[in-house]
Amino acid sequence: YTFNDLSGSVSLAWVGDGTGVILALTTFQVPFFVILGQSKLYRENYGKSFDDVTDLINNTFIRSEYGIATGPENSGKVILTGEVSGGHSSRVFLSDNFGKGFTRKELPFTLKMQIIYNPDNSEMLLALSINNELWLSEDFGNDWKKIHDMVCLVKGRKNTIFFSTSLNGSCEQGMLELKRTTDYGKTFKTVASKIFSFGMGGRFLFASVMTGKGTLRMIQVSVDQGETWDTAQLPPVGHEQFYSILAANDDMVFMHVDEPGFGTIYVSDDRGTVYSKSLERHLYTNTWGDTDFTNITSLRGVFIASVLDEGSVRSVVSFDQGGEWVPLRKPVNTKCDATAKDPEKCSLHIHGSYSNAMKINSPMLPLTEPSAVGLILAHSVGDAISVMTPDVYVSDDGGYTWIKALSGPHHYAILDSGGLLVAVTYSPTQPVNQIFSTDEGQCWGVYNFTNDPIYFTGLASEPGARSMNVSIWGYRDSLLAQYWISITIDFRELLTRDDDSDYVQWLAHSDDISSPSNGCILGYKEKFLRLRKDSVCWNGRDYQVTTQPTPCPCTLDDFDFGYYREENSSVCVEQPDLQGKVLEFCLHGKEEQLLSSYRKIPGDKCEGGTMPERKEIDLSQRCVSDRVGPEPMSVPIVIMVIIIMLLSIAAGAFFVKKYVCGGFLVHRYSVLQQHVEDNAADGMDDPLETNHVQNGKIEFHDDSDE
Ligand SMILES: *[C@@H]1O[C@H](CO)[C@@H](O)[C@H](O)[C@H]1NC(C)=O
Ligand SMILES: *[C@@H]1O[C@H](CO)[C@@H](O)[C@H](O)[C@H]1NC(C)=O
Ligand SMILES: *[C@@H]1O[C@H](CO)[C@@H](O)[C@H](O)[C@H]1NC(C)=O
Ligand SMILES: *[C@@H]1O[C@H](CO)[C@@H](O)[C@H](O)[C@H]1NC(C)=O
Ligand SMILES: *[C@@H]1O[C@H](CO)[C@@H](O)[C@H](O)[C@H]1NC(C)=O
Ligand SMILES: *[C@@H]1O[C@H](CO)[C@@H](O)[C@H](O)[C@H]1NC(C)=O
Repeated sequence: YTFNDLSGSVSLAWVGDGTGVILALTTFQVPFFVILGQSKLYRENYGKSFDDVTDLINNTFIRSEYGIATGPENSGKVILTGEVSGGHSSRVFLSDNFGKGFTRKELPFTLKMQIIYNPDNSEMLLALSINNELWLSEDFGNDWKKIHDMVCLVKGRKNTIFFSTSLNGSCEQGMLELKRTTDYGKTFKTVASKIFSFGMGGRFLFASVMTGKGTLRMIQVSVDQGETWDTAQLPPVGHEQFYSILAANDDMVFMHVDEPGFGTIYVSDDRGTVYSKSLERHLYTNTWGDTDFTNITSLRGVFIASVLDEGSVRSVVSFDQGGEWVPLRKPVNTKCDATAKDPEKCSLHIHGSYSNAMKINSPMLPLTEPSAVGLILAHSVGDAISVMTPDVYVSDDGGYTWIKALSGPHHYAILDSGGLLVAVTYSPTQPVNQIFSTDEGQCWGVYNFTNDPIYFTGLASEPGARSMNVSIWGYRDSLLAQYWISITIDFRELLTRDDDSDYVQWLAHSDDISSPSNGCILGYKEKFLRLRKDSVCWNGRDYQVTTQPTPCPCTLDDFDFGYYREENSSVCVEQPDLQGKVLEFCLHGKEEQLLSSYRKIPGDKCEGGTMPERKEIDLSQRCVSDRVGPEPMSVPIVIMVIIIMLLSIAAGAFFVKKYVCGGFLVHRYSVLQQHVEDNAADGMDDPLETNHVQNGKIEFHDDSDE
């Protein structure tokens, strides 16, 4: 489809699961014109042909940085935010029928950021105005009521809305109050004060709270929506540092604690309060919040991150949810870069957003889909030191082994639940006309999708990777004009229908067939049915990932905290410097003695086997409350206690790190580095941003739970 359109940018949105409806919004703005530019809106099923429906938005200029806000699930709701010149209000266009019709609505305020949906009820909308008023609509944008003034940051979870607010008109971090409403603004409760920022992940609510000691702040955690708080055992940070929630689910949290330039990843226990050091020298830019940390959603427990290692950037992978990190294995079909000392010893470096921030020319982040078991597509250079243009690598076993699939940077997409991969060469200056496709990356076919090459800008396929249709987007450039072009390919014709004999059983995480615990991760193993690699057939839309989880007997690997593992051994040893010392901390006014308590790793489902003894001593009478709540009294005392504790711990940590763990940390040796705090994936705590709400990047972050 050729767009009769000169526009400078195009935004796409899929408006419903399986409906195939795409909205394409083009915007064009000429800077010196006093009048605003125009937007055009197109709509069509599966990208086969687009209808120009610009009249539905009455030729208004749509703010493309606010995107096309599509509602949760299959609600068919769409919101477009218009720009009104010189206006003191915002204009929005609302659709509740998959973009077939829009109604225009003038808001009684000017939007500061895109309107937020309640994921459980698409009628409920929340908006923040440029003068920091919080507005709510309970009828999909028809009526709005102001529920609070001076709101700095707002986040919602189901029917509960949390927001930070200031007492005197400036969103100065460290002076804010955290409030909660569970009845859509009828009543409010202040759940924490003196907060710097707050964030949510899994079932946890985090607030970074000033310690009262200089500019230091620390993390408080709540698992009951802010009723009670515990101090997370993480180091406090100063003004120039930040905390960031890298990933979280109901079982645990990955928390990054910044030291300028890089920092340390900690993993939490199931309460979110006790943290183990997981990875040091983790790279994370504090200017834009860019990190290579990736949850490999196609295989349970697998994460990839980048560390600074002897001055160079290296990728490391963990197959057990942050317990141990190792370099990625060298792909069998590649040679190491000439700069590698040993031609057989180099590892993959996966390029994520950190690399992009460092201007490495990789057009796409690593790609994984929960429906495409074990599959990862990523850009890499064979040797970490090299800055040559990256190539495309594919793993089909969740990151254990890799093969080099395509040379040079590409855009790629996963179709048919992993049964089909497609890629188009990315080169901004060279028009292209070929698309590559394969089943699981072993051998790529090539197809000319046009005789007249286009400047390729990207691939679009329906979210969820179940479709077999992919749209190639780009533009043509003639002397007179540039115009957008979209070419959609339906791959179903190429492949035959599925047949049970085309599936094989695959045991995830089975890198060592000889071991009885082969495939056991976090206490259980899973077998999947996957398409045979050489089968030329398709999974189809209704394909469901099928797995047969079986519990594994417990081993010492299923426990952690207060102990470290000696190299090449799964036996836990008490940290020598801490032997016999009591290391306690307060939880709900109850003190726990951690050194002698083994705990199951969060999410671990092992059964039977070895069960280490757990000692827990109730010393509640000695314990000082560490609640953060509105009453500020006890905080300084608690901090003193913790700091004293920390001093003794620090020595132990240093010893373990230096002499025991070698380069990589041993499995969760969980010395309680004290202190704590917040999250970045969730956009919580960026010190360089006095005004979080404004940061569009955060609002649209992939792994934000919103
Ligand atoms: C479009 O704008 C015109 C005037 O600018 C107005 O009369 C008309 O009602 C608008 N239509 C819609 C659907 O908003
Ligand atoms: C009020 O705002 C000023 C800065 O404008 C700040 O210095 C002061 O601490 C704030 N007071 C309170 C109670 O928030
Ligand atoms: C990683 O992604 C998987 C699949 O989406 C999800 O189930 C899991 O909870 C995520 N883990 C974390 C720590 O966020
Ligand atoms: C496909 O396109 C390439 C150039 O991009 C050209 O060399 C080749 O001949 C084309 N193949 C066919 C079958 O048209
Ligand atoms: C691909 O697009 C066609 C419409 O052109 C649609 O009927 C079909 O269901 C789509 N295939 C998949 C797997 O989504
Ligand atoms: C651990 O195992 C590796 C590889 O098997 C070996 O090179 C290393 O020397 C071992 N370390 C110790 C302390 O035994």
